[in-house]
This record gives sequence, structure tokens and C-alpha cells, in this order.
Amino acid sequence: MTAAALALTEVGKIYRTASGPVQALDGIDFRIAEGEFLSILGPSGCGKSTLLSLASGLEFPTSGTVEQAGRRIDRPVTDIGIVFQTDVLLDWRRVLDNVMIQPQIRGLDLKAYEQKARDLLALVGLAGFEDKYPYELSGGMRQRVSICRALIHNPPLLLMDEPFGALDALTREQMVMELHQLWLRERKSVMFVTHDIQEAILLAQRVLVMTPRPGRIAEIVEVDLPFPRRPETMESRRFVEIVAHVRHLFERHGVLKKY
Ligand SMILES: Nc1ncnc2c1ncn2[C@@H]1O[C@H](COP(=O)(O)OP(=O)(O)OP(=O)(O)O)[C@@H](O)[C@H]1O
Ligand SMILES: [Mg+2]
Repeated sequence: MTAAALALTEVGKIYRTASGPVQALDGIDFRIAEGEFLSILGPSGCGKSTLLSLASGLEFPTSGTVEQAGRRIDRPVTDIGIVFQTDVLLDWRRVLDNVMIQPQIRGLDLKAYEQKARDLLALVGLAGFEDKYPYELSGGMRQRVSICRALIHNPPLLLMDEPFGALDALTREQMVMELHQLWLRERKSVMFVTHDIQEAILLAQRVLVMTPRPGRIAEIVEVDLPFPRRPETMESRRFVEIVAHVRHLFERHGVLKKY
């Protein structure tokens, strides 16, 4: 059996703060299989970004273990791609140079990677924008550049923290479908953090639903919808059933009010 792309075992996380300890996560236990797309869905403050910090080795658990491909994480991990909520592009670098940051820092073969950067930009519809500066792009385009930057070194695991949260609804729907197409093509393992129920279900094979703080797993919901997913998928009976199931979970945990 191959090791999971990411494995959290009985993970708890307590932050020490000036006003006392804050328990962010409790008893978190899940795996992301190689090539699996897992959505993490939960209310604000339930520990989603903390999960991402643990998965990337920027933070360490107070209890339990975090492993990537069978290796325990004990330092910041470089073999991953991360996309944050805001695009954190460097304003003084052109689009191509923003995507090339990783290969440049790592001293990789720049010629080969430059071709890869151009290919990735073309893949997300940004051919012709290589020499633009970030301020010349729309929010959606900037976030596409961020995704290219996260993928350039071909990491097996992609971590995304509400990557489309700052976008308008139409751009957001388009980005969701583009990410889906990209995943179908590349089959990377993905941990996708969101607080949008529809988005979480539409993209994923499984949705990990979290409770409010301290974040625990309410349920890991299987999404047995056929691929490829399309905007129309959201109108299917099964999709609507899964949404209703997740809403009930949130009602039970007091995240959503029953009317
Ligand atoms: N570095 C830190 N030091 C102290 N407390 C922290 C730290 N990071 C997060 N917390 C606390 O841990 C809890 C979980 O925070 P986290 O950022 O993981 O939530 P989240 O689910 O990502 O929320 P959101 O949806 O608003 O982004 C919160 O109560 C937060 O205040
Ligand atoms: Mg967060």
C-alpha cells in the first residue's frame, strides 16, 4: 500500500496566547490519498488555516502526528504547493517572474522551468500576459498566477486556503471549473479549504466537515457524483441531497440556524 499524500493522526493543536491557551483543533484524524481531492469545510475560526499550517510544517501539533507521504513533518515542507486567500504576488515582478520565484530561489534549471511556467500560464488562459505586472491583472487573473506559482515545481500535494474567497461570484464559478479541469488533468493530491458548501462538494471526492472551535471532524462526507463535474451538476438531485446533508450537520452543531 502506498503511503497517504497527507495523514493526520489524532491531531490536537493548542495555541499559547497572552490571554491563555486557545484550543484550535481536537482529535483530527484523516488521510488524503494520492491523487485525491479533499475539501475541508467549516465555519470561521474552526481551525482550517491551522490545518494548512500543520500540513505545511509552519506549525506543529500539540498532540498527534502529521505525515506527508509516510514521513513525519518536523520542519517547513518544500515539496508542496500553497495557494492563499489573497494572491501575495510580488508587485514589482512581471507575471512570468512571479511564477518563476520558486525555481529561482531553489537554483533550478531556469530555462526548462521558464518553458514550464509559460505552459502553465497558457493552461490557465494567461498566454500573452507573461510580461504584465500584477496591477495590470484582474483579481481572478492574479489568483490564476498564484496557482501557476504553486504548481511550477510539480509538487505532489497542493494546499489551498479559500483561494477564491476574494473573487466575485461569476469569476469564482469560472475559477472553480478551471481548478476542476486542472485537477482532472494532473491528478494531484489536493486539500482545499473553503466555507462555501457548494464549492466544497462540486470539487471534491470527499468533504471533511468541521465543527466550530475547537475544530473537530463532524463527518467526512463521500461525494459520489460523476466526473467531470459541471455547473449543471449543482442542479442534480444527488448534489442537492448532499448539500442538504451538510446543512443538517451544520445545524446540529449550531453553525447554521434552523428556520
Ligand atoms: N498564531 C496563532 N496564535 C494564537 N491563536 C491562533 C493562531 N492562529 C489561529 N489562532 C486561533 O485558532 C483558532 C483557529 O484559527 P484558524 O485561523 O485556523 O481558523 P479558520 O478556520 O482558518 O478561520 P477563517 O475561516 O476565519 O479563516 C482561532 O480561534 C484563532 O484565533
Ligand atoms: Mg482561515
